[in-house]
Amino acid sequence: MTKVDPDKLKLFSFLLFTKLEGAVTSAMVHLGDHLGIYRAMAAANSPMTSAQLAHATQLNERWIREWAYNQAAAKIISTINNPSDSPTIEDDTFFLSPEQTAVLASDDHPAFGMGMFHGLPQTMDSLNHLPESFRSGIGRNYDSKGAQGAVSIERSFEPWSRANLISAVLPKLDGVTEVLYKGAQVADIGCGAGGAVLLMGKEFPNSKFVGYDISKYALARAAEKLQASKITNATFTDPRDQPMPTDNSIDLITTFDCIHDMTHPQQMMQSIRQAITNDGTWLLVDIKAHDSFTMNATKNPMAALLYGVSVMSCMSSSMSQPGGAGLGTLGLSAKTAEQMAKSAGFSRFRRLEVEHAVNAFYEIRP
Ligand SMILES: C[S@@+](CC[C@H](N)C(=O)[O-])C[C@H]1O[C@@H](n2cnc3c(N)ncnc32)[C@H](O)[C@@H]1O
Repeated sequence: MTKVDPDKLKLFSFLLFTKLEGAVTSAMVHLGDHLGIYRAMAAANSPMTSAQLAHATQLNERWIREWAYNQAAAKIISTINNPSDSPTIEDDTFFLSPEQTAVLASDDHPAFGMGMFHGLPQTMDSLNHLPESFRSGIGRNYDSKGAQGAVSIERSFEPWSRANLISAVLPKLDGVTEVLYKGAQVADIGCGAGGAVLLMGKEFPNSKFVGYDISKYALARAAEKLQASKITNATFTDPRDQPMPTDNSIDLITTFDCIHDMTHPQQMMQSIRQAITNDGTWLLVDIKAHDSFTMNATKNPMAALLYGVSVMSCMSSSMSQPGGAGLGTLGLSAKTAEQMAKSAGFSRFRRLEVEHAVNAFYEIRP
């Protein structure tokens, strides 16, 4: 073995333990969301001691205090620096800046970021099963993360969609909103908890919407939300019970962050071609990916996060049956998507100008 450089050794060890710090702090973020601590801080809207925070959340002060020290040290929450030489516990106060409030405590803000943290226990539990997947090659689908897994996905994607889908995305599709206001048939495939279907169903009462998903937990959540919404032009179903039509009768098909999760994405694109009218539109939303690992690693600052999420969720789902394609989170670049869509019988492929931190948007037409 070549000689170890002590400076490089220190730097590498530091790098490694920053990852562990991230994992442990992520667990504390999960608790801050789950226990309503961030929401209590946002509601107070002024600095609080750990005792005040414990009172507001009805939680134990000692546990809150240690949690707050982690969060403030990691700069997830803010603290007022105490100038005293011998500060007391009562001197330490904690608060959320407006930006921290948006990301940590505002379900309605497009930048709300608690979705992935919501599902952290389920995502981390996959560690108990991944060694077997590495041996057998077979991954686990979204239902392996249970009902809270479906809620985690819902909370990850819906805040942005609520703010942007109707106002900023659909108008970018050629002539689609006009058709939807008049009355059209729409399918959202891989609909998850149904957020996009319900948003569109409400905005376009003359159109009919069907959400398809293979996750029983996501479908149950979608059904619950449909009932609460009182929307009457939407239904949710499992395509294995009620297959998608094959008679070119659907005017708009949407797929949000799900094609790369599918075991047979090419087959799905063929089914989409059979379902869609000859002048219909497929809105494909999928992770912004480059064509190679090197490009992703050098151009996408979230590459390590996304490759890790892939092993624990996306690629696992797409390998959950023998022969699964295993595209992975960063596996559907624009070039790959266009090639696959063209071999499924589509001829027009256009990237839409939509600003999003992780997703790319495409209009695909026969
Ligand atoms: C990351 S989630 C996205 C959910 C939803 N589109 C959203 O944006 O919230 C991917 C979804 O694709 C679903 N899925 C995977 N394979 C599918 C298939 N072959 N047909 C329908 N849905 C599928 C999963 O069950 C999961 O709910």
